[in-house]
Amino acid sequence: MNYEAITKADIINYRGYRKDIQGTKFSLYISNYPVNALYLKSRIGNSDLTLAELCCSVGVTLEYLASGFKKVIGVDLDKDILDICRTNLKRSGCIAKTELLLGDVFDDDILKRIEADIVIYDIPFWYAHEQENQGNLIDKNPPLKALIQKIKTYITSNIIIFSPPEWEYDYFSNQLGAIEFEQVFIEGSHNRNQIYLGELIKTEGKTKIELNHK
Ligand SMILES: C[S@@+](CC[C@H](N)C(=O)[O-])C[C@H]1O[C@@H](n2cnc3c(N)ncnc32)[C@H](O)[C@@H]1O
Repeated sequence: MNYEAITKADIINYRGYRKDIQGTKFSLYISNYPVNALYLKSRIGNSDLTLAELCCSVGVTLEYLASGFKKVIGVDLDKDILDICRTNLKRSGCIAKTELLLGDVFDDDILKRIEADIVIYDIPFWYAHEQENQGNLIDKNPPLKALIQKIKTYITSNIIIFSPPEWEYDYFSNQLGAIEFEQVFIEGSHNRNQIYLGELIKTEGKTKIELNHK
């Protein structure tokens, strides 16, 4: 999908989002795909556990995972986006089991407030769009290893990182040690990587999942 050539309605239709989902064109463009969030729910869902997502944006991942967990927690530093997230979770019927925190995930005090069994960190790679063709995008994101260490110290070792498809296995394994590096293909196109840590690793090394919208 070429970003300039498509409309917000195209994104909603093609990916199969709820028809009344709220969000800007860009926030929906960089969001998770429902088909992937549902796959994740089938892989890690557990109604006894709490799941937190760092950098939750308009809440697509939270919305689709909520029914698989006892509770979900979302963190984002943009108040307007978090308000949209709240609306989406209300409309999808899962606000009662949701806690939303406004704050920076690099602030230790925010991390210390989160009580969760599993943490998803969606690397905020919109830098990739703003900084297109301006060097190594990995260097423009905040230090990964330090954040993951803090999540382990304050919250849990069971972590999933969402990364853009271009970011490779060695970048993560060199910093984080044992990982499952799952390449996610949607309709035959390499959409993202999901890096599992701790007890969420099923097969250490590279794995691949192929998903289709219908
Ligand atoms: C990576 S996307 C999230 C997509 C989302 N996981 C979904 O499935 O819809 C970008 C979000 O990260 C948030 N963000 C970026 N840096 C952050 C930080 N340091 N702390 C908290 N949120 C951050 C932005 O405000 C933006 O809403």
